[in-house]
Amino acid sequence: MVTQADRPIGVFDSGVGGLTVMRSLEELLPQENFIYFGDTARFPYGPRPVEKVREFAFQIMDLMVSFDVKLAVIACNSMTAAAYFDSRKRMKIPVIGVIEPAVRTAVRVTHNHKVGVIGTKATIESGAYEQEIKIANSKIEISTQICSKFVEHVERGDTFSDELFTLAEGYLEPLIRQGVDTLILGCTHYPLLRGVLHSVTKGQVELVSSAEEVAKDTYAVLHDLGLLRQTMSIGNRRFIVSGDSGQFLDVGSRFLAGLSEVESIPWEDG
Ligand code: DGL
Repeated sequence: MVTQADRPIGVFDSGVGGLTVMRSLEELLPQENFIYFGDTARFPYGPRPVEKVREFAFQIMDLMVSFDVKLAVIACNSMTAAAYFDSRKRMKIPVIGVIEPAVRTAVRVTHNHKVGVIGTKATIESGAYEQEIKIANSKIEISTQICSKFVEHVERGDTFSDELFTLAEGYLEPLIRQGVDTLILGCTHYPLLRGVLHSVTKGQVELVSSAEEVAKDTYAVLHDLGLLRQTMSIGNRRFIVSGDSGQFLDVGSRFLAGLSEVESIPWEDG
């Protein structure tokens, strides 16, 4: 018998970045069914105006509802910044974003109260991180940096090139100069760059991403609603993209073990 708890959890991003969140979700909730959607035909979202990103986020949420998901995880900072609060009002299912969980962690781990945030243009220019950090602790000094080119490297599977290293040095230099002891990876693609970011900051800066906290929040919400799937068997995973499924499989399977099949659905370009 299929129960309410058997309904899948919807997870979405513009591309492979949300797989960093999937990884943590799978670790805490192995028995759950998941549907992952990557809007690769319209990637990247970061350089787009906030209104456009919001429109895309709502379209994807409608798609998720058509799959009858029991909870939606916006595994993308740009979409969380643009649409999280409105989507919570608009959706009849619980919605979890990635910004507040990252802020919660950063505020907890910073010692000198100097926190850096790196992200896409859409996320940084929205001011969403500054707003959340100020609410959490008004004494924290915040330095932000748009890292426009990082996502393209990740989406190509490049987490190691000299070009990427030089790019990271340039992006992080002002933040290191400001003396941040904590750096929020304000884009779900960036945890895949932890190696280069750790090297460039010489291990002196705590790198914070929201994936683990998002997974814990998802667990708690499902538990509170009585929607945790009660079974010892591993749940199903369905991966769907709007663009080239082969490309997503090539890159995504390097970052998420067990990713072996990707479907593609036609999606209008905006
Ligand atoms: N992974 C997305 C984020 O967290 C954005 C990547 C993009 O620019 O599409 O913001």
